[in-house]
Amino acid sequence: MRLAGKTALITGARGGIGRAIVARFLREGADVYAADLSEGGSLPSHEAEGHFVRLDVSCETDAIAAMERVGREAGKLDILVNAAGIEIEKTIEHTTLEEWNRSFAVNVTGTFLTSKYALPLLRAAAKEGTTSSVINFGSYDGFIADPGLAAYCATKGAVHALTRAMACDHGPEGIRVNAICPGYIDTPMLQSFFEGDGSGGAGQTIDQLQQAVRDVHPMRNYGTPDDIANLVTWLASDEARYAAGQLWVLDGGLSAQVQQMKL
Ligand SMILES: NC(=O)c1ccc[n+]([C@@H]2O[C@H](COP(=O)([O-])OP(=O)(O)OC[C@H]3O[C@@H](n4cnc5c(N)ncnc54)[C@H](O)[C@@H]3O)[C@@H](O)[C@H]2O)c1
Repeated sequence: MRLAGKTALITGARGGIGRAIVARFLREGADVYAADLSEGGSLPSHEAEGHFVRLDVSCETDAIAAMERVGREAGKLDILVNAAGIEIEKTIEHTTLEEWNRSFAVNVTGTFLTSKYALPLLRAAAKEGTTSSVINFGSYDGFIADPGLAAYCATKGAVHALTRAMACDHGPEGIRVNAICPGYIDTPMLQSFFEGDGSGGAGQTIDQLQQAVRDVHPMRNYGTPDDIANLVTWLASDEARYAAGQLWVLDGGLSAQVQQMKL
């Protein structure tokens, strides 16, 4: 078990990627705090072994209360995974100021707040010979743009920059900060992208659109939440003791290739 003895808090824990991380961390022996907006929805049986934390990451008092609870119960935090996120599928022309601000409040301010209030617990976990680990969620959309996701792309670029800044500031304290930048991962967020205006799939069925997206990847498929959980587990583990300040792209090779023009 690669995370035995470690305490972890995962935001967005009820989402497609968050659930896979919670399940994997529990299997790897971690003491898991699964944080999300609500307890709604069916619970995989393994989640009963973790602790649920109701946390709106954009709310400062929620972030403080969540970390106070972890401090009281565990006394330290070895791993913070900032996976909560929202995606507005619009161009800037159709994005309202409220939608723009909400995107930044959840994706960027949320990452800032949970990390800020976790710092004393992350320091407590970073002992001689071990490190603590913060894993943020960027996106390949923080490097290159999907059409119709303007605010989302902007927030993910901000998370990338924040990740580097946090890594520089807190590396000397033994706190490693990295970001995972997924490509297309099969979760409710991706399904909503296929169904929404951001897909750009005029005239195609959702099945045709999904196949077209698979085909454009060098690996000829999009990823699964477990693919992401594998990388998160490594970054959270002591094997990654020298990994800091990096943006880890996991996208089936998508961003490595020039798209072929159909002439
Ligand atoms: N699925 C993909 O293709 C993909 C690609 C790149 C990046 N990402 C990123 O990975 C992360 C997880 O995405 P996912 O696909 O699992 O999304 P998802 O929509 O399945 O899950 C997101 C979770 O975040 C929670 N959440 C939303 N607002 C919150 C708030 N204010 N406070 C606390 N929790 C909140 C939701 O309740 C949900 O459980 C996100 O940051 C997303 O931007 C996903």
